[in-house]
Amino acid sequence: MKIRPARSFRGTFQMPGDKSITHRAFLFGALAHGVTTIEGASAGDDCTSTRRCLSALGVRFESDSPGLITVTGGRPLSRPIAALDCGNSGTTLRLLMGVLAGSGFESELAGDESLNRRPMERVARPLREMGAQIETTNGLPPVRVAGAKLRGASLTPEAASAQIKSAILLAALQAEGKTIVREPISTRDHTERMIERFGGRIERQGSEVSLEGPQALRGARVVIPGDPSSAAPFVVAALLRPDSEVTIEGVLLNPHRVRYLDILREMGADIETTVTSEADAEPAGRIVARSSALHGVSIAPADVPAVVDELPILAVAGAMGEGRFEVRGASELRVKESDRIASMVEGLTLLGADIEELADGFRVAGGRPLRGAPVRSHGDHRIAMALSVAALAAEGETEVAGAEAVSISLPSFFPELERGAGR
Ligand code: S3P
Repeated sequence: MKIRPARSFRGTFQMPGDKSITHRAFLFGALAHGVTTIEGASAGDDCTSTRRCLSALGVRFESDSPGLITVTGGRPLSRPIAALDCGNSGTTLRLLMGVLAGSGFESELAGDESLNRRPMERVARPLREMGAQIETTNGLPPVRVAGAKLRGASLTPEAASAQIKSAILLAALQAEGKTIVREPISTRDHTERMIERFGGRIERQGSEVSLEGPQALRGARVVIPGDPSSAAPFVVAALLRPDSEVTIEGVLLNPHRVRYLDILREMGADIETTVTSEADAEPAGRIVARSSALHGVSIAPADVPAVVDELPILAVAGAMGEGRFEVRGASELRVKESDRIASMVEGLTLLGADIEELADGFRVAGGRPLRGAPVRSHGDHRIAMALSVAALAAEGETEVAGAEAVSISLPSFFPELERGAGR
């Protein structure tokens, strides 16, 4: 994809449904008894992977009208005839490990080249403590799950990861007795909210959640707000360009997911948020962002889980701001769809930024003008989007190789970016 600089960035945008919530709506719809209707699901490749795996497990999804998906759940899952293909999606593979741990059959989970390099013992280990029989391939996919009888356990995940917590909670719903998850730092809580939404009982206290199993859930109506992580590149584009303003309507404003807006405000950004609905178990509303003079900040390790998906785009904001921008305690970035520390350091360096790679983060000396250059996404949607926004603020043309990765979360990214760009 070739990207020319933009003089300004303006417009009103509506993001497709949140990716994290869509995965969970599909999974909970499949497990809960009765009918679940899902409005506004993400049509990105990752959520399609979850839906495809569930179909291979015998779950029927129907879509009679655009934007509305109906799932009739609660029947026992059936043994798949082949390995389940999770594509590029870590959330699909890890959450399905929790679902399948208590099934009555054997199954195998695998993914694409990138997913097959990502660590799975972090999920397998706690599930084994609940009685699951799971084998990884030297810690990686393919993962083989032999359905087993599960029991509740008291668990402390090795990383602050909503995927680990969610896999445990999905297993806990099928386990006998109480499961407690103590997170090192609390992570996005969509699974907890969805358990309640589907009639389940879960207790939360600080960063500890507990659940008494087994529990039967019942189908629900789920309306999915727009994805705030997909909104982030558009927000930053408006901040970086002069004479710019964007409005993002109908977007998820769950505090675990919009911490990046607080960090941008700390960097001097002019951003307003308004919650317009709390109706559907998740707060949603509007974000307005305008051109701003930014300055660097240090992101504390404790903040990393809440901005883990936005650190690439925050790095772009840091490179364009004045002074030093630093992220530490973010080694989780090294095991995402790509090594996001290495990918961003490479991309921003090629664009002329002064960025230093650290073992657990990066440090940018902001304020250097960027110039267009050939850069690479490393097959990672968040990197493709972050570097494309940097390209809008660079002088000359940038070519992003592997730009098609944006379809993982936001297939309409480039047309929407072009719509906002003033030239
Ligand atoms: C997700 C959690 C995050 C995030 C991923 C989606 C989820 O991963 O990076 O894109 O839906 O639970 P970790 O929780 O492993 O950090």
